[in-house]
Amino acid sequence: MTEQRPVQDAKAIKVPALPDAQTVTEVKHWTDRLFSFRCTRPASLRFRSGEFVMIGLMGDPDPKTGKQKPLLRAYSIASPSWDDELEFYSIKVPDGPLTSRLQHIQPGDEIILRPKPVGTLVHDALLPGKRLWLFATGTGFAPFASLLRDPQTYEDYDEVIITHTCREVGELTYGAELIDSIRKDEMLGELIGADKLARLRYYPTTTREPSAKMGRITDLMRSGEVYRDLGVEPITPEHDRAMVCGNLAFNLEIKQLLESYGLEEGANSAPAQYVVEKAFLD
Ligand code: A2P
Repeated sequence: MTEQRPVQDAKAIKVPALPDAQTVTEVKHWTDRLFSFRCTRPASLRFRSGEFVMIGLMGDPDPKTGKQKPLLRAYSIASPSWDDELEFYSIKVPDGPLTSRLQHIQPGDEIILRPKPVGTLVHDALLPGKRLWLFATGTGFAPFASLLRDPQTYEDYDEVIITHTCREVGELTYGAELIDSIRKDEMLGELIGADKLARLRYYPTTTREPSAKMGRITDLMRSGEVYRDLGVEPITPEHDRAMVCGNLAFNLEIKQLLESYGLEEGANSAPAQYVVEKAFLD
């Protein structure tokens, strides 16, 4: 007697209930304020590492009309452009209209994803340079999680330095594990080279909980401590390029600092020496 098998997988014939629906494949909670998740990638979606898309869920029905509208926010894609799936890294805001609900998603659930990637944290917006600095606070690490897994980052620069400032040690874990996985990755590890530490440098700091290195990165730059710790020359417009992603106050402060070193802000249409983007906040 032959075994009875369903003709098609139930999942494969499932009709999406949402517009631009994608299916969640994995969810990881890092702290009570942070989580990351992966979802299916639309076959037609092409993006440059570092770009963002609008994602979200259906909002509550309008009390008068009963109609539901999508509730969308800009999220940097944290996965590299070669990945089959998409990854996102998010804060959980208890009263946030989207993240108060998004934090409860489970594998198998659907989210809305508008497949129109945009953004300035892309290689095309920077002129060629020797050293690339990636400055992040909090969930601002997300676009760099994409760029750090893109081979082009190591092909374009001799050295890549990522700094990540968070309030507490637990908030560094997503980034720390990612850096570790890159160093162990067969393909990326080879690109970074035998002298791994010299090509990809990771500089995590905390501001409200004791850790190996404490302080805001901006203060550590002004005092020169970060350059002494890493054993590198201070930033110059000739050699250095920078990408910045964090909270608004941080972005403004580091923008001023980079300009005091003589770097100019670039854009897709006019590449220059540094680029900035605001981290997602609900
Ligand atoms: P601090 O604890 O001193 O405010 P948040 O979670 O509020 O987005 O902050 C993430 C990290 O960014 C925190 O470590 C915070 O430090 C730091 N930060 C906030 N504002 C600035 C700024 N203007 N310059 C540098 N770092 C900042």
